[in-house]
Amino acid sequence: MKFFIDTANLKEIDEARSLGMLNGVTTNPSLISKESVYNQKEIYQHYISICKRLKNDENVSAEVISSDYTDMIQEGEKLASLHPKIVVKIPMTKNGVMAIKYFFRKKIKTNCTLIFSTGQALVAAKAGADYVSPFLGRLDDVSYNGLSLIKEIKNIYDNYYFKTKILAASIRSPLHIVECAKIGVYAVTSPINVIYSLLNHPLTNIGLARFIKDFKNKIK
Ligand code: E4P
Repeated sequence: MKFFIDTANLKEIDEARSLGMLNGVTTNPSLISKESVYNQKEIYQHYISICKRLKNDENVSAEVISSDYTDMIQEGEKLASLHPKIVVKIPMTKNGVMAIKYFFRKKIKTNCTLIFSTGQALVAAKAGADYVSPFLGRLDDVSYNGLSLIKEIKNIYDNYYFKTKILAASIRSPLHIVECAKIGVYAVTSPINVIYSLLNHPLTNIGLARFIKDFKNKIK
C-alpha cells in the first residue's frame, strides 16, 4: 500500500520520508493556507519545493480553487506546467467532471476530491480521473461509515477494471489505515500525527522499559 502524506508542510514531508512512509503528497487549499505563503507566486514556488522532495514515481496533488469550467482548465494547466510531479486536484462538481475529462484527453493527471458517495466515484472514474479521494473521516463525522464507502468503491472499480486509483483521504486514526489496507486500496493519504500513532503500542513501551531495567540490574 502506498502512503501519501496529507500536508503542505515541508518539515512534515521530510519527517515522513525519514520514516520510510512517503510515496506522495496531497494538499488542499486549507492545508496551503497554513504555510508561510501569501500570494500566488509563493504558492507556486511552494509546490515546486514539495516536488523537489519527491522521487521519480511520486507526485503531489495541487488543488484548483476555481469553480468555473474555463477557469479550472486555466488554473489546472498552470499547476501542471509547474512541475511534472503535479497532479491536478479537482472537486467533484459538474464543471469538475468536465475538467477531468479535458485533462484526461490532454494526458494531465487528476485527483478527483471531495468524494462522499459511490455514484460520485463512478462518475470520476468514467471521466478518466487518475485518483479519487473519498473522505473517510468527514463521513464518520456525520455518522456514516466511511470505510463502507471505500469498500463499495473498490468493489465497483474491480468489477469493471477501472484504472482510477483509490486514495483514501480524511484519515483520522491508525484503524482507518489498517482497515484500508485490508480492503486493498491503492493508497491512504494521512496527516503525520496519524502515521506516528501507527507506531505506538503500550506493551511495546512496557516491554522496552523492562528489557533495559533487567539489563542494567545485571550488567554494570
Ligand atoms: C484529501 O486529499 C484532503 O486533503 C484531506 O484528506 C482532508 O482531510 P480532513 O477531513 O482531515 O480535512
